[in-house]
Amino acid sequence: MANHYDVAIIGSGPAGYVSAIRCAQLGLKTVCIEEVANQNEAALGGTCLNVGCVPSKALLESSLIFSNTNHNLKDHGIEVSEVSLDVNAMHLRKDKIVSSLTKGVSGLFKLNKVDTVQGKAYISDPHTIKVSTEGTDQNIRAENIILATGSRPIELSDYPFDEEFLFSSNGALKFSEVPNRIAVIGAGAIGLELGSVWARLGSEITIYEALTDFLPNADDSISKEALRIFQQQGLNIELGTEIESLEVIGNQVEVKVSNDEINNLQVDKVIFAMGRNPTSKGLFDPALGIQIDDKEFVIVDEHCQTQVPNIYAIGDLVRGPMLAHKASEEGIMVAERIAGRNYSLNYKNIPFVIYTHPEIAWAGYSEKSALEEGIQVEVGTFPFQANARALTSNESTGFVKVVVNQEDDSIIGVHVLGPSAADVVQQGLIAMESNVTAKELGSVMFSHPTVSEALHEAVLSAKGNAIHLNNRKKK
Ligand code: NAI
Repeated sequence: MANHYDVAIIGSGPAGYVSAIRCAQLGLKTVCIEEVANQNEAALGGTCLNVGCVPSKALLESSLIFSNTNHNLKDHGIEVSEVSLDVNAMHLRKDKIVSSLTKGVSGLFKLNKVDTVQGKAYISDPHTIKVSTEGTDQNIRAENIILATGSRPIELSDYPFDEEFLFSSNGALKFSEVPNRIAVIGAGAIGLELGSVWARLGSEITIYEALTDFLPNADDSISKEALRIFQQQGLNIELGTEIESLEVIGNQVEVKVSNDEINNLQVDKVIFAMGRNPTSKGLFDPALGIQIDDKEFVIVDEHCQTQVPNIYAIGDLVRGPMLAHKASEEGIMVAERIAGRNYSLNYKNIPFVIYTHPEIAWAGYSEKSALEEGIQVEVGTFPFQANARALTSNESTGFVKVVVNQEDDSIIGVHVLGPSAADVVQQGLIAMESNVTAKELGSVMFSHPTVSEALHEAVLSAKGNAIHLNNRKKK
């Protein structure tokens, strides 16, 4: 039957589209159903490609070039005058990148013979999905169903997004001109990245964060130094501060806050970046037995299987961090398992990245979380100030920190604030996943001059053997 599939995947973000391609590669007849339409066709790629990771990184790059051109060329002996900004051209570049990547997904679907259906999906029984598209319904039958509907920005009921004054992270990627003053609510990855974009382009930014700790999930030494650097860059980060009220007066928003020590503020725009909620409502008949927790996450086991054995859920819709790479890997795991293969993920080593400048990245245990679990650790750090490549690039703020288990010399955490942090952490993560010990990583040859040498030196410093550093302990 034409509409009978081995696997039907609902959602085409990094969880769904990657899973669809892997299912097809494994010989499974696969369809991907996507609600969002672009000119009557399914708009593939989900949040990450369309309104998340990709467009935000495009703007981060453009805004960094603008800021460096204005402020950091003199050091290199380069003088420029009359630097001007064309926000529209910046958006066009961003849109072109998004379009090329989403078309790429569409091409990969065709190449792998993944069918695409545009419409809103509803699972009516364990093998039937009703897909509604502007007045017409069709039923798709599938042996297995994978839910990959992602998440959406958290919205306060008193202050719904109007995308004119009160913006979601989607709308904050599209300002047609640089606002004078912006209030950002939430100092997580999205608040810091979007705050950085508009600050570099000239906006005055105040970020309100309810928690008193800055980036509580990062290693303490990294969060402390990052906060200092961001404040120096002009991001005004107010910790322990919640919004009391927001009022649109004329073309300004008056922001009143809970913290008596902080003045109320008049801003042009407010960006909400308080986290995201899973999109799990209205997806399936409640009688099926798929369970949802109090935060609306679909409950799954370690292999992303729901209580209904042939129905799986992956990505932002389920427990764990809302990260594109975690979502994609879950998509692959489920595809492999449906194809009858044994496949599991190591959820302990998920890399985290915040694309600020300097970049922040980490994987594994922080020093504190290791000690809290009673693990005796050796810690090594190395500053980019002592790294030749970082110095030649004027990128010498920050440092690498590694956490090593004293008992077996395994590397259990890598934390970086600085240039190419994500890539340096990835190198540490490969060592961690491959059970390479600190001693072994210390004896690997690293190219000179590279920022990766800072990882090498940090590992050596855990042993008191760093070369370009006054080791605190000597061995
Ligand atoms: P988040 O959960 O990382 O941070 C939200 C922050 O807002 C928290 O620190 C929270 O304490 C604060 N907050 C919540 N309510 C508040 C209130 N009423 N007033 C003031 N502060 C408040 O969420 P974010 O930044 O919105 O990102 C959403 C998801 O997307 C996260 O899971 C994140 O990991 C992911 N993401 C990852 C990126 C990356 O890997 N670079 C980039 C963007 C998003």
